Amino acid sequence: MKRYLIFGLAVLLGVQCFCACGRQRPDKPGRIQVGVACYDQSDTFLSELIGCLREELAAQERDGLEIAVTVRDAAGSQRTQDDQVMELIEMGCGVLCVNLVDRADPSEIIDLARENDVPLIFFNREPVAEDMMQWDRLYYVGAYAQQSGTMQGELAADAILEDGQADRNKDGKIQYVVIEGEAGHQDAIIRTESAVDALKKRGIQLEKLGSGMANWDRAQAQNRMQQMIGQYPNQIELVLANNDAMALGAMDAYAKLNHTGSALPLFFGIDGTEVGLEAVVDGRLAGTVYNDKEGQARAMAQIAVAAVTGQGMDQISFEKDRYVYLPYRKITE
Ligand code: GAL
Ligand code: CA
Repeated sequence: MKRYLIFGLAVLLGVQCFCACGRQRPDKPGRIQVGVACYDQSDTFLSELIGCLREELAAQERDGLEIAVTVRDAAGSQRTQDDQVMELIEMGCGVLCVNLVDRADPSEIIDLARENDVPLIFFNREPVAEDMMQWDRLYYVGAYAQQSGTMQGELAADAILEDGQADRNKDGKIQYVVIEGEAGHQDAIIRTESAVDALKKRGIQLEKLGSGMANWDRAQAQNRMQQMIGQYPNQIELVLANNDAMALGAMDAYAKLNHTGSALPLFFGIDGTEVGLEAVVDGRLAGTVYNDKEGQARAMAQIAVAAVTGQGMDQISFEKDRYVYLPYRKITE
């Protein structure tokens, strides 16, 4: 009898310790807690995308399925993001949507997720293929960088061919500058290259005057553009910006110098953010390419619910089993 008692006590203690040491799991059946880690919420496109994600997750709620969302902003630090992911897992999140700060450095996050068996949906900043193969509960949702650049180049070519005034100095060439996103981002270099290729394919003669990196940011783009206007006064005929925020920043630089009307180059962006679309409607931005944030958010919400409930994964059209890419589209009005 005594022996049984001791054995029982030992089991009880063991169970208690196990509970205290293991992470909490408020992810009871019927409730999903989704953790979202964002590289920098001051990024216009990202903040709009996360707004869509909240809506799409709410739309996945149904009788007997409640979804809670917790968002963390790494403000540009991978170290901070690694800590935030740990915190989200400890909080009991059953699935994480991760917008990496450094897309080449996801290992710590992948290890944490795997140790706790929490599936990961990377989005917008694509990890390299080898990292995506580290575990079978990793997914990526994004868009084709090359397609966005090609579309931007085609929009620019159409506008130049239509508008006899685009070649302002009538030298048969279009003098252009590029405002680039972040170094090392899949959407920066590829967008620029494919936009220029598309212009050339349409027979536009180009002369590159300069380029500046502005990290997707409107204020930084205004600065870079001001410098380039100073270097090439009245020579710039076309501004290709890797996103709308930077195209708007470039336009701000001209506005500050009181350049108007025919003294302005043609500006092109990518994203179709709220302000970007307004600028297209009122004709200041010659065109943009829509980065389908609603579609991306919907795919993320579907994968998140399927990964936790184990139901519905077969209804998602993956490429290479774990990638979802949403198409871009051209916007000119
Ligand atoms: C791009 C988007 C940019 C910026 C960047 C951040 O896809 O076009 O505006 O948000 O992602 O990773
Ligand atoms: Ca010219």
